[in-house]
Amino acid sequence: EKKVTIQTLRRMRGQEKFVVVSLYDAPMAAMAQKCSVEVVLIGDSLGMTVLGYDSVIPVTMEQMIYHVEAVARGNDKSLIIGDLPFMTYATPEQAMINATRIMQAGAHMVKIEGGLWLTDTIRMLSDRGIPVCAHIGLTPQSMHKFGGFRVQGRDAERAATLLDDTRALNDAGADLLLVECVPAELGEQITQASAVPVIGIGAGAETDAQVLVINDILGLTPQPPKFSKNFLEQAGDIPGALKCYRDDVKTGRFPGPEHQFS
Ligand code: KIV
Ligand code: NA
Repeated sequence: EKKVTIQTLRRMRGQEKFVVVSLYDAPMAAMAQKCSVEVVLIGDSLGMTVLGYDSVIPVTMEQMIYHVEAVARGNDKSLIIGDLPFMTYATPEQAMINATRIMQAGAHMVKIEGGLWLTDTIRMLSDRGIPVCAHIGLTPQSMHKFGGFRVQGRDAERAATLLDDTRALNDAGADLLLVECVPAELGEQITQASAVPVIGIGAGAETDAQVLVINDILGLTPQPPKFSKNFLEQAGDIPGALKCYRDDVKTGRFPGPEHQFS
């Protein structure tokens, strides 16, 4: 099989959903490759899922690099996206320096959280050859600003802001958008408003792709979010769980109505 690139994902748009898993180590990355998962993300969720913090805020560049290197060693087919952690892209210059480190650790794209304020940063990275995924909606690095993990865009004003952000981030040169925890209808509107592929998590069934955290797929999370699903339960083993998740995204069985917000 060929390597997945940004071109692959563009070509798939409107034809076939692509599958994204947030994972952190070489054996899981290898398993994802074996299950033809198109994109692997080294999420800063690793602060909570593997390091035991109660938020993503303590995560460091060194921790991200350590895990990006591990994932890159385990997988040479999927597109690899690495998160920039909290406060490592507060200015465009800082973003450039830290995105460089994530790319040199083995990522093919970086992900950063935010809306309109990211446009200068995205332009700077994009002009210099670093692809960017812009993460909007519920952005966990801002949890204290939101007052917790809550669904975004249920009110008309916030929904309009997220649609404005979608257009601005596209114009700035983002290559992918990721939208987290919004009503399904808004997830669909964002996808329609975007020229680049949109990955959803808790954003309904109409986005171009779905992402889940490996811990949620494997039933390792004590209080799993509503939008996630334990695929290990039905599949019985880890390769089966990944394959089941993949097949359910491809066929539209996942996310079901019970995994969506209205
Ligand atoms: O950190 C992460 O795993 C993420 C996904 C949940 C989108 O950002
Ligand atoms: Na993240």
